[in-house]
Amino acid sequence: MAYVIAQPCVDVKDKACVDECPVDCIYEGVRSLYINPNECVDCGACEPVCPVEAIFYEDDVPEEWAWYKDAAVSYFDEIGDLGGAADAGPLGKDPAGVTALPPQSRA
Ligand code: F3S
Ligand code: F3S
Repeated sequence: MAYVIAQPCVDVKDKACVDECPVDCIYEGVRSLYINPNECVDCGACEPVCPVEAIFYEDDVPEEWAWYKDAAVSYFDEIGDLGGAADAGPLGKDPAGVTALPPQSRA
């Protein structure tokens, strides 16, 4: 179980969430950030600080963004559990579904 960052983060990347996470498990991709579901301890500290409300508990992700759960699992299956986003630095890639999105702009 874990929290999930969904579409509102794409092309926004505010990063307020990163400062809140006690286990440093929010990793930077190219167009979005991603919570490693293997490392997240479900503390929930990140969820209220996101200015665009991109973060959801996995059972509460809106239907149209439900695929972000699987995307995060596959992403970290591929990348591995790096044990800390600060040391890892930007990962230089996104899940294919995010890469394929048109540019996102805030309304
Ligand atoms: Fe993204 Fe919100 Fe964090 S925009 S980087 S999920 S604070
Ligand atoms: Fe970190 Fe948020 Fe999980 S603060 S531990 S990513 S619920």
